[in-house]
Amino acid sequence: MSSLEPLSAPVSAARAAALAEAHRLAGQVLVGGQLQPPPSGRTFAVENPADETIIAHAARCEARDVGWAVEAAHRAYPAWSRRPARERGELLHRAADRLEQEAEPLARLLALETGNALATQSRPEVAGAIELLRFFAGLWSELKGRTIPWDPNTLAYVRREPLGVVGAIIPWNAPLTLLCVKLGPALVAGNTLVVKGAEQAPLTVIRTAEILNEVLPAGVVNAISGFGEEAGKPLAEHPLVRKVSFTGSVPVGRQILRYVAEKLCPVTLELGGKSPNIVMDDADLDKAVPGLIAGMRFTRQGQSCSAGTRIYLHDRIYDQVVARTVEALEQLKIGDPLDEATQMGAIISREQFERVKAYVDMARATPGARIVCGGSPPPGLDRGYFYTPTLIEGIPHASPVCTDEIFGPVALLYRFRDFDEALALANDTQYGLAGALWTRDLAKALAFAEKLQAGFVQVNQYAGPRAGLPYGGYKMSGLGREYSLESMLEHFTATKTVIVNYAT
Ligand code: NAI
Ligand code: MG
Repeated sequence: MSSLEPLSAPVSAARAAALAEAHRLAGQVLVGGQLQPPPSGRTFAVENPADETIIAHAARCEARDVGWAVEAAHRAYPAWSRRPARERGELLHRAADRLEQEAEPLARLLALETGNALATQSRPEVAGAIELLRFFAGLWSELKGRTIPWDPNTLAYVRREPLGVVGAIIPWNAPLTLLCVKLGPALVAGNTLVVKGAEQAPLTVIRTAEILNEVLPAGVVNAISGFGEEAGKPLAEHPLVRKVSFTGSVPVGRQILRYVAEKLCPVTLELGGKSPNIVMDDADLDKAVPGLIAGMRFTRQGQSCSAGTRIYLHDRIYDQVVARTVEALEQLKIGDPLDEATQMGAIISREQFERVKAYVDMARATPGARIVCGGSPPPGLDRGYFYTPTLIEGIPHASPVCTDEIFGPVALLYRFRDFDEALALANDTQYGLAGALWTRDLAKALAFAEKLQAGFVQVNQYAGPRAGLPYGGYKMSGLGREYSLESMLEHFTATKTVIVNYAT
């Protein structure tokens, strides 16, 4: 918290309530319908990134705890998978209603452990997660098969079946969204779930599972916490886990594929990006400037897989757009995530904070590069991992500052002269998750949509993923699509072809 401003009464009340909840969840996991400590009983410290205090010690699961959770999910599977899909959808709707009743305390807990501002991030994240659950709940009627005209006196049909126990491994940047984006389709399709939250933000995931479990049968949703190698790896490798859905970094995504190679189970990977946001000289700048800032996701400290952090501006509008963007970024209010006035909270951890600083230092040492704004922690906030919105120009496209996902409030500015040049630069990346173009020229808009090598492309806006729109990456950004009908059908069911010969 700021050393300048004392805590206001509402902020301290919100913090006290969230801390009490964190203490209640300490050491607990939600397995087999019960909040309880795992067999190993070990714990690790969870930090509040806004003030560097320890808020709780969470359960540090290891292989035997993972096995225990997977077995609980496996025991719940036969009854859940045989239940009519309509009933599963109905239960998920009721679970979403329960989540809605708990929205405010849940948003506070999320803000406390992630550092994401309550007003701009944590509350909207809870609302989005509820929307996701309701969307997937309503998809029960899409679990349809088909019949195929075949030989005379045969009935050939295809039916859809769930896969079994799903293992979900999620990161810390949007734990509730990413839980629901995996849990919703998995459960409505008839699978049961074990989710491992990220070590930086494990509590909201456990609490959400606890709430959903009030409505769902015991063992259908199980939530554990722990580190990647200790808990994530045994979860991915477990022979009873028949599908792994992962969101996180590219190196771990590759590891997940190796872990499941022995048992050949399907995998969905969502691995982030370094997405382009391009402004042509004919764009409506009154829309493009706020759109660039929304795209940078700086109100979540840039910790978003879809963040548009490579910004390409047409030569003719470059200076004007940069000036207007800097002016708007400098207005962003950085501070305590639980303060209603705060627009931008804290970076998740010291590790990520140091990572961001290292990239900015690299930029500073790059000949020809210039920090246009930001580039340091904000004055007055001497505890917690706060960092000012940072724009940098003059970074070569081959520099790691440009090729790597920084996952912090840092975006790069580039000048271009024509559309083809901008498009070539936009595609010059190992990633391919998102991207946007700002223009009034329909031909360029459609050419961009066709030629950008990315899974989520927008024109004249830069919104985040929403329930109902398929979302996922090209190239190193991942495998598979989430948030949509096909994510449920293609990623959480298998088809079985049946031919009945009734000629006898
Ligand atoms: P990470 O990929 O290491 O962690 C994500 C999840 O995977 C966590 O639950 C973690 O415990 C688990 N995990 C880590 N190693 C594992 C292993 N060997 N086996 C199984 N599970 C494992 O990401 P990290 O270290 O938190 O962040 C590093 C970078 O990754 C970020 O700077 C960002 O660039 C990227 N990232 C991308 C995200 C996205 O939304 N696509 C989310 C989080 C990070
Ligand atoms: Mg890692």
